Amino acid sequence: MEYGIGRILISEDKLKEKVAELGARIRRDYRGQQVIFVCVLKGAVVFLSDLVREVGPEVDVRLDFLAISSYGASTKSSGVVKIQKDLSSDIHGRHVIIVEDILDTGLSLSYISKLLLERDPASLEICVLLDKAERRTQPVEVKYTGFTIPDEFVIGYGLDYAAQFRQLPAIHIAEPLE
Ligand code: IMP
Ligand code: MG
Repeated sequence: MEYGIGRILISEDKLKEKVAELGARIRRDYRGQQVIFVCVLKGAVVFLSDLVREVGPEVDVRLDFLAISSYGASTKSSGVVKIQKDLSSDIHGRHVIIVEDILDTGLSLSYISKLLLERDPASLEICVLLDKAERRTQPVEVKYTGFTIPDEFVIGYGLDYAAQFRQLPAIHIAEPLE
């Protein structure tokens, strides 16, 4: 099935407001400390770039990037998780926040957190913009959540369908085309 851009689920204004709120919480929690923000490529790029600007100069923000195998051209998870690009920094003894676009089954984030915990960071937390809570099969403990959303395939603000639509400024429902 092919998908196009459907109705807006979360507007630009609502996204901005929520990202500011999450940034302020992180600033309060890590003021004066150094934190490595681990962006899960590619979907979390747009969220990360807005989030760190909301965190502001009170936190010593460092960035790193991780890529795992993705959905490909399907809207359902293949269930396969594999590292495609690893971090470039050593996170041993450092404070780490994983930044991800969406938490669905939990497979990706439970895999990533287990992997990063083995490297012995000083602390490890997760920040996700969207949570499809009803789809969870793997338990994942998330400290910072933006929005809990229904089980709909969404696009925009970094999220893709078949590598398209990441540039949309709002979050839309992906709509099946005739
Ligand atoms: P999980 O491993 O099932 O939790 O899936 C998480 C990953 O699936 C996310 O990083 C996204 O890349 C992708 N994903 C899950 N739901 C959606 C969606 O509605 N739109 C776009 N990507 C999604
Ligand atoms: Mg993703």
